[in-house]
Amino acid sequence: MLRHTLGALILCASAVHGQGLQRVLSPNNDLSGLNFSSPTDNNLPRLNFSSPSPLIFHSTFALLQQWPNTFFEYGHTIAPCKVPKGTNLYHASSDGKRPPEPEFLAFDPEMAYWILGTTPDSHMFTYRTRREVQCLYFDGSSASLRRDGSMDSQMAFLYNSTYNIPPKPILELPPEFRNLTGNKTFFNDIALEYTRAEKLCDFIHNHSLGGPGWGYEGVVRMNTGFEMIWCNFSSPSVELVSRLNVSAPRLEEVPSRWTHLGHVPETFVVKGRKKRGKKQIPGLTFDNPFAVNGGVYSWWHAATKRYGFGNGQYGRGETRVRLDSCTLFTLYDPGMQDQESARVMDERKSLNLTKEGYWMAPREDNERDAALKTLSRRRQAQRAHNVSEADGLYMRGAVEQRMRLLLSTEKEQHCSGIDWIEIARDIVSAYSIELYNLLKRLEFFGQLGPEDARLWLSDIRHASHLVFMPFYEYPDITKSTLQEAFAVNASNSQSALHRCKTQYAPFEAEELSDSERLTSHAISDVLSAICTTMLPIFLQTERIWLANFNNFSAPPVVTPAVPLWHELQTATSHNIQAIEELMAWLGWIDQWTACDPGCALGQVCYIPIWPALAMGGILKGGMKGHEDLDEADGSLDRYLWEPTCVDFHHFPPGW
Ligand SMILES: *[C@@H]1O[C@H](CO)[C@@H](O)[C@H](O)[C@H]1NC(C)=O
Ligand SMILES: *[C@@H]1O[C@H](CO)[C@@H](O)[C@H](O)[C@H]1NC(C)=O
Ligand SMILES: *[C@@H]1O[C@H](CO)[C@@H](O)[C@H](O)[C@H]1NC(C)=O
Ligand SMILES: *[C@@H]1O[C@H](CO)[C@@H](O)[C@H](O)[C@H]1NC(C)=O
Ligand SMILES: *[C@@H]1O[C@H](CO)[C@@H](O)[C@H](O)[C@H]1NC(C)=O
Ligand SMILES: *[C@@H]1O[C@H](CO)[C@@H](O)[C@H](O)[C@H]1NC(C)=O
Ligand SMILES: *[C@@H]1O[C@H](CO)[C@@H](O)[C@H](O)[C@H]1NC(C)=O
Ligand SMILES: *[C@@H]1O[C@H](CO)[C@@H](O)[C@H](O)[C@H]1NC(C)=O
Ligand SMILES: *[C@@H]1O[C@H](CO)[C@@H](O)[C@H](O)[C@H]1NC(C)=O
Ligand SMILES: *[C@@H]1O[C@H](CO)[C@@H](O)[C@H](O)[C@H]1NC(C)=O
Ligand SMILES: *[C@@H]1O[C@H](CO)[C@@H](O)[C@H](O)[C@H]1NC(C)=O
Ligand SMILES: *[C@@H]1O[C@H](CO)[C@@H](O)[C@H](O)[C@H]1NC(C)=O
Repeated sequence: MLRHTLGALILCASAVHGQGLQRVLSPNNDLSGLNFSSPTDNNLPRLNFSSPSPLIFHSTFALLQQWPNTFFEYGHTIAPCKVPKGTNLYHASSDGKRPPEPEFLAFDPEMAYWILGTTPDSHMFTYRTRREVQCLYFDGSSASLRRDGSMDSQMAFLYNSTYNIPPKPILELPPEFRNLTGNKTFFNDIALEYTRAEKLCDFIHNHSLGGPGWGYEGVVRMNTGFEMIWCNFSSPSVELVSRLNVSAPRLEEVPSRWTHLGHVPETFVVKGRKKRGKKQIPGLTFDNPFAVNGGVYSWWHAATKRYGFGNGQYGRGETRVRLDSCTLFTLYDPGMQDQESARVMDERKSLNLTKEGYWMAPREDNERDAALKTLSRRRQAQRAHNVSEADGLYMRGAVEQRMRLLLSTEKEQHCSGIDWIEIARDIVSAYSIELYNLLKRLEFFGQLGPEDARLWLSDIRHASHLVFMPFYEYPDITKSTLQEAFAVNASNSQSALHRCKTQYAPFEAEELSDSERLTSHAISDVLSAICTTMLPIFLQTERIWLANFNNFSAPPVVTPAVPLWHELQTATSHNIQAIEELMAWLGWIDQWTACDPGCALGQVCYIPIWPALAMGGILKGGMKGHEDLDEADGSLDRYLWEPTCVDFHHFPPGW
């Protein structure tokens, strides 16, 4: 939604991909007790890294959540949505005129205020929905102008293909601005935003999917918080509840370099948008006491209330927008043949995958760690920029059909009623932290003293038992039958595996929509990977425990001199490898990244979110105590991987 400031344009032009450390997947524990076998000579389940299932799963799980969609800026889901009756939406303007359409409405007033509420003559419009409003949602950071990939899905959707998208318009700057920016070329992303908004609304109207007062009336996207492109203000679906002059008394004697930056000439923003009146302009004026930094912090802070899941725990996503998991469309749909085959081909090379999708891991441990990191983040690099016309028409048809289904009375007949999004969230909640903790516990092996093995294995046993607890019946066992009883192919084992894999399988006769079939398939693949990886770990742990540690009165002493040590060592190095690869395959890195230590009351875990991400940099003085955050470039990306707790102290008012 931020589209009026020079600052924002500088940010999008100068942002670069940064490399950071991901703590989670680079164990810094002492692993000297372990000896990794080579990746090909063990019997780990082979995971298909070309499969779209973990990608579909992650996109589904993350819908409408700020935190994961900040980690994964490039969206892959398009979904019809609804905004409930009685929802407030905000728009600020610098001239007090009712906005022309389409315009951008913020769910958080802080967003609207910061964007255009701080000029000498700013007005805040508050609208409230009079009925449940239907909308179309693009996931990812779909309103972020930081990197082109954020807009891929919208553009391919509008132009039927990647290859029909016209080049971005160039921003024509007056000479004094050209000098100020070193004659750099900027794209007019703001004009492009309006074109995009018009086209998205046109799509709705042209296909008779909505209009003023009925059907689809807007498009929901995210940058720092969520916004809605509202298609037509003459609609009775929203009512203007207030229009207030929110201009505050200006600061006096502000250095001219700041006010100069603020008073952006009309041509700067408006060019390329003929329909709009001349006065609908800028901009950020820095003699407003609330413009920086506290204002930016308020905006960013409002967005963080919609973080959603963190550390595998439920949080509040954008609950003012609701989805129906019967009608999701994913760009990983196999029907997107050219887009999908390009992803598979490109990643085969970049990620060292075989044509079956198996990963050829580097042999050196440190190379392997780095490669695992790349694998686990692979969705971050996946752009929807290989969409052929055939793909585009397929996508358009599918989205239209799904939007229409929700307008019709036939929904019940075509949808199972199962909430697949909640199921995906339950799975993340059930396994993400458990896997992480199990990995950390396994890695502790290298530090065990001779007396510690029993306690340590008991920990591992608890963690692996938990996964199979609802599914596993212990067979009759004696010491001499342990080997067969806990074999992977034993019937109790296989039954448990089946129950684990199918724990959310729909009943056979269940009618699923096309969307549901795909989501359900992705969920089933994700569960298969988790259950298949965990089964041998569980069984082997039970077997070793029962063979050696089950006598409460006689804990064995385990030193490198005894065979049991070797057995534990081999098992543990295999298990670490298996879990690392599983975690990389799942790619839930957003769930395995946290502020460490955790944040105190009143603090929030800071990750850079566009465009509020670098405000502290552009407007000197932000992020006190974090001098390196004063950079309006990729150095901020570090904080995505090493987030840090902040509160209002880090954003002192003014500068
Ligand atoms: C690790 O395994 C390799 C191959 O099995 C072996 O040659 C090497 O000695 C082992 N290293 C340690 C520290 O056990
Ligand atoms: C892995 O997934 C890709 C993409 O869907 C598919 O082409 C390939 O056949 C799969 N590999 C196996 C072994 O099933
Ligand atoms: C996209 O395809 C539809 C259906 O064929 C067509 O009506 C529309 O004009 C196309 N849009 C563009 C921008 O090519
Ligand atoms: C641009 O900068 C050059 C070199 O500093 C200066 O000579 C020129 O007058 C400036 N032009 C404008 C329009 O400010
Ligand atoms: C920008 O280009 C103009 C005209 O080409 C030139 O006069 C000016 O010095 C340049 N400014 C900078 C900062 O390079
Ligand atoms: C909608 O229809 C108008 C007028 O017929 C046309 O100019 C426009 O390209 C169409 N837009 C879309 C997104 O289909
Ligand atoms: C908004 O709706 C009104 C009333 O139906 C219509 O006259 C107007 O053309 C619409 N505006 C746009 C931009 O579609
Ligand atoms: C809005 O308020 C500001 C500050 O009080 C004032 O300067 C401005 O003239 C007001 N605008 C209108 C249209 O009354
Ligand atoms: C996908 O698109 C990108 C960007 O245009 C291009 O570099 C890449 O080669 C394409 N992949 C395939 C397999 O065509
Ligand atoms: C792929 O192989 C190259 C060369 O060995 C290595 O540098 C890179 O880390 C590997 N990447 C992955 C994801 O395995
Ligand atoms: C399990 O596999 C082993 C070795 O492959 C075999 O000897 C045994 O009969 C199998 N057991 C079952 C229950 O299939
Ligand atoms: C447990 O260990 C104690 C001490 O070594 C031994 O006396 C006892 O027989 C063992 N019990 C079983 C069931 O193996």
